Amino acid sequence: TATPVTVTVTGAAGQIGYALLFRIASGQLLGADVPVTLNLLEIPQAVKAAEGTAMELDDCAFPLLRGINIYDDAKKAFEGCNVALLVGARPRTKGMERGDLLEANGGIFAPQGKAINDGAADDIRVLVVGNPANTNALIAQHAAPDVPAERFTAMTRLDHNRAIAQLAKKLNVPLTEIKKMTIWGNHSATQYPDLYNAEVGGKIAAEQVDETWLKEEFIPTVAKRGAAIIEARGASSAASAANAAIDHVFDWVNGTPEGDWTSAAIPSDGSYGIPEGIISSFPVVSKNGKWEIVQGLEINEFSRQKIDASVAELLEERDAVKSLGLI
Ligand code: NAI
Repeated sequence: TATPVTVTVTGAAGQIGYALLFRIASGQLLGADVPVTLNLLEIPQAVKAAEGTAMELDDCAFPLLRGINIYDDAKKAFEGCNVALLVGARPRTKGMERGDLLEANGGIFAPQGKAINDGAADDIRVLVVGNPANTNALIAQHAAPDVPAERFTAMTRLDHNRAIAQLAKKLNVPLTEIKKMTIWGNHSATQYPDLYNAEVGGKIAAEQVDETWLKEEFIPTVAKRGAAIIEARGASSAASAANAAIDHVFDWVNGTPEGDWTSAAIPSDGSYGIPEGIISSFPVVSKNGKWEIVQGLEINEFSRQKIDASVAELLEERDAVKSLGLI
């Protein structure tokens, strides 16, 4: 039998954790023939709740689930880890300045990055879900100098899936007709969902919708979907966020389908004028277990402005964490 893959989930007792763990254990994260060991990391006050979730995982009798360990110590939780899903983060509370938010998250993601550096397996892959996801990923990456930088990624797959769903609904076509969607930039309200390179039934999406809808409805609806979910549900997106995390890691490990691409925030190599080193969302394919940025896309003037605005925000966040000594 194959050696189990160790998957560490932080914030395991939270909402996303609850939606995520059962899908990992059932084989949807890596593949239906890959056994997994789950390491759950929580803060001490939430360990008991994580234990309750572990009891339910036991009660599912998942054939692929080979073990569950629960920790409140990052060092132990990332020992031998192959896939790290960093979900737990410090949310912004009322009146909190951005600097305070970044500093509080630095206190979480720097030690976790160090624990990954010191103890994770050589093939470690990291997906940061906890917000501000791109910058938290940057902090963790800088705390892990011995791990190849490209192994640190942040999640924009939920935005990507939201963009596909909105476009399919507008054009009343099956979701499978939509290919080559891209989210550029930051996982924030400045993100840019690009319909000028997306295709519907093989034709450019932007040519099949009117410009007013594209600019005044589509983009803000995708960018503000998280807030709309909170407004409707009274809680933030959880099952859809967990689903996107599953999609991101599954594609990273198993490859993206031929003739399509997806969106992920990965360290920039300078492509499309996005400064090297920042963790920005790009159009990406996954080949042989690695993300590659799709090259040669046309960026029109409108797209350029949108991408630049989101990248400017990422640069501000980077400079802020730099001045806090976090990177
Ligand atoms: P939640 O508040 O329900 O759960 C977060 C959990 O993290 C809590 O159980 C908490 O105890 C734990 N936690 C806090 N600090 C920790 C630490 N240092 N180590 C381990 N665990 C720790 O939050 P929810 O709804 O599960 O969301 C988690 C994060 O995901 C939030 O930051 C949210 O903003 C973000 N998010 C990101 C999305 C994306 O598309 N990138 C989409 C939706 C949410």
